Formats: sequence, structure tokens, C-alpha cells
Amino acid sequence: MYGSQGESTPKPAAPKKITVPHVISRKGQMPLVMVTAYDASSARIVDRAGVDMILVGDSLGMVVLGYEDTLRVDLEDMIRHTAAVRRTKPRALLVTDMPYMSYHTGSRDAVLAAGRLVREGGAEAVKLEGGHKRLEVIEALLNAEIPVMGHLGLTPQSLNAMGGYRVQGRVVAEIDRLIADARALENAGVFAMVLEGLPADVATMISNKVSIPTIGIGAGVGCDGQVLVYHDLLGLFEGSVPKFVKQYATLHETALDAIESFSREVRERRFPTARESYRLPRSVGEALGERRG
Ligand code: KIV
Repeated sequence: MYGSQGESTPKPAAPKKITVPHVISRKGQMPLVMVTAYDASSARIVDRAGVDMILVGDSLGMVVLGYEDTLRVDLEDMIRHTAAVRRTKPRALLVTDMPYMSYHTGSRDAVLAAGRLVREGGAEAVKLEGGHKRLEVIEALLNAEIPVMGHLGLTPQSLNAMGGYRVQGRVVAEIDRLIADARALENAGVFAMVLEGLPADVATMISNKVSIPTIGIGAGVGCDGQVLVYHDLLGLFEGSVPKFVKQYATLHETALDAIESFSREVRERRFPTARESYRLPRSVGEALGERRG
């Protein structure tokens, strides 16, 4: 078990580079902030804002690659996008999702897949979904020196088994199972866990029962931190958003306005102006003379 919660725990100093031990030390301290990023431009913005962790989530499949769910994302996708984020040298801890079917076929496959995420992508930790049934895989990853973040509750890779994206933990038996899963993950050695799509009371209960940080999404304020998807929090999509999303901006409107203005100015020949155009040296212009037509 990692760390301990309590009033007397000293406040960790803000480190230059966020590490796994630092994340663990934040249990019961200032809430942790995690935001997804999938490429260099989003990673630079997210890191500059000072978040603690960048998650290259397999939500990549839905918000960047245009799939309907996360199940189609593969290891090559995750490596490519993790590497793009890593090239920006973020201060935040870089956590990458293990995609569907990269850890479901056994520990050896999982270690080889996670090893590629670390060596080729530059991930500093991996995240995988599930409780008791993942314990063997988690042990193998930790033996390979790869830090693991767990993920319980609404686990999107179980979409078909769950019968849709449904809030979990609404009946006592399920809550007991979630608590047992959380304790099992903690004992297995994960350094933190995402709690997704749970009633706030249930997520708070789990957070109080484990000594590692919980990071909530749609799980109320009682977690040790919160995570949101970049595109959701910036309002990059039009239309309704899930209840748990707060849009801190409506960038799709800003982007739409900008591109409509560009289109109008191109069609009216108002762009580019002299300011955005390169000029010939006068001598060359004169030499070209009439040939310029
Ligand atoms: O893939 C993802 O973005 C995630 C977060 C929503 C936790 O797993």
C-alpha cells in the first residue's frame, strides 16, 4: 500500500517533473488534475496549463480518429500518438491507455504491448481497465518496471458486455464488488485509479477505502483528482454533452467563425492582402517588365 492520508502528512513540494511517486504522495493533498491529449499541439497547451498528468486516452478513437467507440483503437495508434505527446517533453506525468486486446490475451502479450508504449511511445505509465481479472497482468507489468494506473466503474472497453455506457455501482452487490476490485488493485500495486461513471457517494466511499489516489470522471467531487477529455472540456464538439462534462470553453464556435471568415474572404478576394503576400525585389520586378502580364 502506498502513502497514507491524514492531517499531519507534509505537503509535497511542486516538482519540476511530475513522477509516479509524486502522484502517490498527493493522496489527501491538493486534488490531482489529469487531461487527455493526443498530439503535440494539445499536449503543449495542456502541459502549459500546469496539469499533473496527461493521459493519451483511447478516447483517441472517438475524438480524433472518428470511431464510434474505443474498441477499434490499436497499439500502433496508441504508440504514434503517445510519441507525439512525448516529443513535447511535458512536465506532467505521461500516462497512456493500453488499447483493447493488448492485455486481454495474457501477461506476456500485455508486457510486450506496454513495453512498446514505453520504449517507442515514451509513456511513463500505462492505464488499463478492470478489477480482479487483471491482477495477473498488473503483476507482470509491475515486474517489468512499468507503473500501472487502474480504471474501474464505467469501463468503455466493456461497452458490449455492459450493454451501453451506463453508470455503474447503483446496487449494493455491485458497490461491494467495486470496493473489492479497488482494494485488489491497490494491493496489486497500481499507483492510482480512474473511477468513471459512478454515483458520487460510491466513488467517495472507494476513495476513502484505498490509500492511493482516485481520479474521477463522472464520479463526483470526493475523488482525489479529476480527469476530463480535452475535446469535451474545450467544447470542441457541437451538440449535447454527457452530464459529467463541464465545457470550460466553446471552441467549436470560435473555430467555425474563423473558418467561415476565411472562406468568405477567399471568395471575395479579400485574403490574402499585401500583408500576407511576399514581394519581389524591385529590381527583379523591373527586369520582368511586361512579362508579368
Ligand atoms: O480514454 C480516456 O480518455 C479515458 C478517460 C476518460 C479516463 O480513459
